[in-house]
Amino acid sequence: MSGKPSPRARHRARAPARRPGPVAPAPEESVPLPVGSKRHPLLGLGLWALGRWSAEDEARTKATIARAVERGVRWFDTAEVYGAGRSERLLGDVLRRATAGPEALVVTKLSWEHLRPSQVRASLVRSLERLGRSAVDVYLVHAPDRRVPIPETMAALEELLREGRIGAIGVSNFSLEQLEEGAAALHGTQLAVHQVRYNLFDREEAEAVLPYCREQGIVVEAYTPLARGLLHGRYLDGRRPPPEVRQYAQDLFGESRLPGIVARARALRELAAGAGVPLASIALHWLRRQGAAPVFGASRPEQVDQNVAAWAQRPPDDVLEQADAIARGERA
Ligand SMILES: NC(=O)c1ccc[n+]([C@@H]2O[C@H](COP(=O)([O-])OP(=O)(O)OC[C@H]3O[C@@H](n4cnc5c(N)ncnc54)[C@H](OP(=O)(O)O)[C@@H]3O)[C@@H](O)[C@H]2O)c1
Repeated sequence: MSGKPSPRARHRARAPARRPGPVAPAPEESVPLPVGSKRHPLLGLGLWALGRWSAEDEARTKATIARAVERGVRWFDTAEVYGAGRSERLLGDVLRRATAGPEALVVTKLSWEHLRPSQVRASLVRSLERLGRSAVDVYLVHAPDRRVPIPETMAALEELLREGRIGAIGVSNFSLEQLEEGAAALHGTQLAVHQVRYNLFDREEAEAVLPYCREQGIVVEAYTPLARGLLHGRYLDGRRPPPEVRQYAQDLFGESRLPGIVARARALRELAAGAGVPLASIALHWLRRQGAAPVFGASRPEQVDQNVAAWAQRPPDDVLEQADAIARGERA
């Protein structure tokens, strides 16, 4: 949205930033999953690059997951490909010892390399062994593989759902056409979740599928919600994103787009300061307002604290609207 800031927003822009309060436990906010009786929390921890998988990082990784449990996070996202199975194993270890209990929502993913019906069951069994569970709450197809017809994979997943080894079926990185094809291939259930890259600067893929998901009651999970730390203020003071980040998010951090994105992110940081909230509060609650549930990454316990604290501070709608316009480049 464009136009002049409201008097309230101008007042906020002059007001001194509030000091962050003590870290509160994540509010237990959730929506019902369209399949089964479980609820889907609105904020989750993703375990992709967590700890980077070297042996000495494992203690920090476990501490990060444990901190999330302590802070009230109840949705954990992993995948068979993350750390070649280490992510699932570490999550299983921590959850077994923690008090997250049965209400934790554990989501894992079937690799794009294992979509043939003969591979699906074996992949799930290996994931369940690593997680130390008899069933997974939501099982996502990590990404489609054009060589394997989607209906074949869906039939194999539905069989596992009937056996009770999967609570609900979902997908990730699917186009609208692929979503429709997946949905049509299910007979006794429906797609419960779609996980898609979605943040203030990265919207295209999500916006192409949001109306369909809304219409079908599919929960939209937003990955990379913090734009790899950019929406925490990282890279705004001259430091350049390291090669692995640039490589992962080429669109965002490519040479041609980066200066513009950094300028907009600086404007967002000012907006957040004026509103007395962390920049990450704007990033996370903007997604929530779009109807998506953010799954953030964190590689150390303090990052979990900061993200949970950011979630606990919901910016007013007019601030989120201004953020939307700034991120789209419609306002300075
Ligand atoms: N379905 C898919 O294909 C797919 C693809 C990507 C991700 N995902 C899922 O989504 C999750 C999140 O994705 P993501 O890791 O790209 O998301 P993200 O939340 O945008 O980025 C996470 C990174 O931001 C930095 N960060 C987090 N909290 C911070 C803080 N308080 N202050 C400063 N920096 C902070 C950390 O970087 P450092 O670790 O460098 O400090 C962290 O690793 C993944 O873990 C995974 O579960 C799914």
